[in-house]
Amino acid sequence: SESDLERHFEETIGRDQRIEPRDWLPEGYRKTMIRQIAQHAHSEIIGMQPEGNWITRAPSLRRKAILLAKVQDEAGHGLYLYSAAETLGADRDELTEKLISGRQKYSSIFNYPTLTFADVGVIGWLVDGAAICNQVPLCRSSYGPYARAMIRICKEESFHQRQGYELLMTMMNGTQQQRDMVQDATNRFWWPSLMMFGPPDDDSPNTAQSMAWKIKRHTNDELRQRFVDMTVPQAEALGVTLPDPDLAWNAERGHYDFGRIDWAELKQVISGGGPCNAERMARRRQAHEDGAWVREAAAEHARKQRERAVA
Ligand code: 3HC
Repeated sequence: SESDLERHFEETIGRDQRIEPRDWLPEGYRKTMIRQIAQHAHSEIIGMQPEGNWITRAPSLRRKAILLAKVQDEAGHGLYLYSAAETLGADRDELTEKLISGRQKYSSIFNYPTLTFADVGVIGWLVDGAAICNQVPLCRSSYGPYARAMIRICKEESFHQRQGYELLMTMMNGTQQQRDMVQDATNRFWWPSLMMFGPPDDDSPNTAQSMAWKIKRHTNDELRQRFVDMTVPQAEALGVTLPDPDLAWNAERGHYDFGRIDWAELKQVISGGGPCNAERMARRRQAHEDGAWVREAAAEHARKQRERAVA
């Protein structure tokens, strides 16, 4: 009976075991998993734009090759995650349509412009660093396909984070102008990186249920704090100043205290009012339209293959 199935689901979650595609699961679990996985996938795909902006203008062949590899990785992350969403019955065309029509979201961080090449390093250091903080616990998420996709994605994110930090270290050992570029990029990306973790716990409608279903293993604020604690020493080693005068080690808490985040800015960016939202959406829509002929040709080829197979 359904109550037996429900109890089996709850017991599986209770035992820290994974829910797999063939298992019975509550409609609410399916809905919120598709929501989170799809928006995570959308973030990876949209995230290719700010970085891709610098592939043709990288300062050396080495930097170009590294950036090209990173952007290709992001496309692959999107692919794994869309495939994970499909195991819950989601349809990829529908998910793409929801992204393009603004009915599904992608990470706020990608609505900021990449103004200099130092931004490429700061995205690797801070944005991929924040993504790692958020994604490592997701390797233990209760939905099997999502958790397994995270394990591979986290390994590649670590490379992304290291290459960004190494790029910045090189620039910090360069001219004063290069050091100023790194400081400027850090000033522009620090607060938006903290906002990536989502609204504060007392304004996060999904967190309680996601924690109960062990989709999330930590709350938004816990992961944000972990990211700050990890990043402050890295900024010191790099020789840049984080743009928060309230940032200070609190020995009692064993964490860094930091200043107030402008939640109005996050709300504005999430609802489409960020510096680059329109551009990101227009580019994504254009790419979808430009690729239509490839999808039609592939579908037609597959149809003919099927016809030949049964003939
Ligand atoms: N950007 C856009 N939307 C956001 C957001 C952000 N930074 N933070 C929260 N939101 C949205 C949520 O999606 C939710 O809206 P919805 O109900 O329509 O989906 C609403 O704001 C309220 O937020 P909640 O905290 O209640 O929502 P969640 O419990 O889903 O928490 C989250 C938000 C922490 C982003 C969580 O969904 C999550 O951990 N997602 C997986 C990680 C992810 O998506 N990371 C993207 C980072 S970029 C990336 O990975 C690329 C890297 O390679 C650079």
